[in-house]
Amino acid sequence: MNAPSSLTEAEQNELLAMAKRAYEHAYAPYSNFRVGAAILLAGGKIFYGCNVENASYGLTNCAERTAVFSAVAALGAKQVRIRAVAVVNDRNVACSPCGACRQVMSEFGPDAEIFYLGPNGMRRSSMRELLPDCFASDSFT
Ligand code: THU
Repeated sequence: MNAPSSLTEAEQNELLAMAKRAYEHAYAPYSNFRVGAAILLAGGKIFYGCNVENASYGLTNCAERTAVFSAVAALGAKQVRIRAVAVVNDRNVACSPCGACRQVMSEFGPDAEIFYLGPNGMRRSSMRELLPDCFASDSFT
């Protein structure tokens, strides 16, 4: 993504700090890969989430989806317009959101910026880069 970020450096740092705090609560006894995500909404509120694994493996919920679902549960879907998402993990590897999370994030933030931290610092993508030509409500209405 080449255009400058719409977030100030302070906003980016705050979002990253929240994502780091979020992975403290990760429940990842199977993968031992702890992930935290924080989402900044258009109104300025920040919500966060961690991955929550399950013995059945397939029911695992990623950090990004946990964050989006908590925002919707707290505010109602109408108030959830995602401006930016930050994703971090406890291994300092650049972890861009999985396909399922991209689809869920795109529902509430088709224009969002996605930040993810890796060994070479922060990387940034747009939602449209991560999920081009996506399935959305206007695909069937
Ligand atoms: N995971 C996330 O929470 N977010 C991602 O973007 C990728 C993967 C979690 C799911 C699982 O608990 C662990 O990381 C290993 O895949």
